Amino acid sequence: TRTPVNVTVTGAAGQIGYALLFRIASGHLLGPDVPVNLRLLEIPQGLKAAEGTAMELDDCAFPLLRGIEITDDANVGFDGANVALLVGARPRTKGMERGDLLSANGGIFKPQGKAINDNAADDIKVLVVGNPANTNALIAQAAAPDVPAERFTAMTRLDHNRAISQLAAKTGAAVSDIKKLTIWGNHSATQYPDIFHAEVAGKNAAELVNDEAWLADTFIPTVAKRGAAIIEARGASSAASAANAAIDHVHTWVNGTAAGDWTSMGIPSDGSYGVPEGIISSFPVTTENGTYKIVQGLDINEFSRARIDASVKELTEERDAVRELGLI
Ligand code: NAI
Repeated sequence: TRTPVNVTVTGAAGQIGYALLFRIASGHLLGPDVPVNLRLLEIPQGLKAAEGTAMELDDCAFPLLRGIEITDDANVGFDGANVALLVGARPRTKGMERGDLLSANGGIFKPQGKAINDNAADDIKVLVVGNPANTNALIAQAAAPDVPAERFTAMTRLDHNRAISQLAAKTGAAVSDIKKLTIWGNHSATQYPDIFHAEVAGKNAAELVNDEAWLADTFIPTVAKRGAAIIEARGASSAASAANAAIDHVHTWVNGTAAGDWTSMGIPSDGSYGVPEGIISSFPVTTENGTYKIVQGLDINEFSRARIDASVKELTEERDAVRELGLI
């Protein structure tokens, strides 16, 4: 029998945590034959609710769930972690400037990065979900010099899945017919969902749609502002779809992309496509054996170039701001 994989979830008592933990425990994160130990990391105020969730996890009698530990100590929470899902973050509250938001999150992600550095397993893989996800991932990565930088990733899979869904609706295709869609840049309103290399049932998506106004005025803003639309409709932010995307991100990273397809992940740039090295930006990637590679050689047209550059500019400004705050 396999040794259990240690999966740490921060913000475990939050709404994404509640939608995420049951799917990890039932085998959707890593696979139907991989046992897991869960570590729930919360702040002191969240511990009691996390205990309640753990009671419900027990009550599911999941065959793959080998143990649950709840803690507010990051050194304990990341001890031996193979996978870390950093969900807990400080939300932007009314009147908060970007600098305040970045420093409040620096206070979370810098110590968590150090705790990962000091305690996690050698094969640790980190996904940052908590916003601003790309820059929080950069902060954690900078605080973990002994961990290979590429193990720190940020979630743009929800944007990727949203874009697939919108494109399927527009073209009348099945979701499963859509391949090679890309989210570039930041998980923010500047993100760029790119269909110029995407395929719909084997045909080029941009040629099939053949409507640049729809792309610019409907598709891109619908995907980029979907989070706000969910809040408006649901009275609460996306949780189940965000949890689902986190499951997809890690599952794809560990188990690989299908032949003839790729996915989108926020990863440390190696300078590809003119994205400055080191910032955590979303790229098209293929995955195999637990590692990922940026898809190379795509032609970037003017329409795409301007949008990628705008989102990357925002990321470099966030990087400069956290550098100035001494967070990286
Ligand atoms: P929530 O407010 O329901 O839960 C957050 C939880 O994190 C709370 O239980 C809180 O106690 C905990 N927490 C706060 N600081 C912590 C720390 N230092 N260590 C451990 N736990 C801590 O929020 P929700 O809805 O679960 O969202 C979580 C984050 O995910 C937010 O930052 C949100 O903006 C982000 N998000 C990201 C998406 C993406 O596509 N990248 C999509 C949707 C949400």
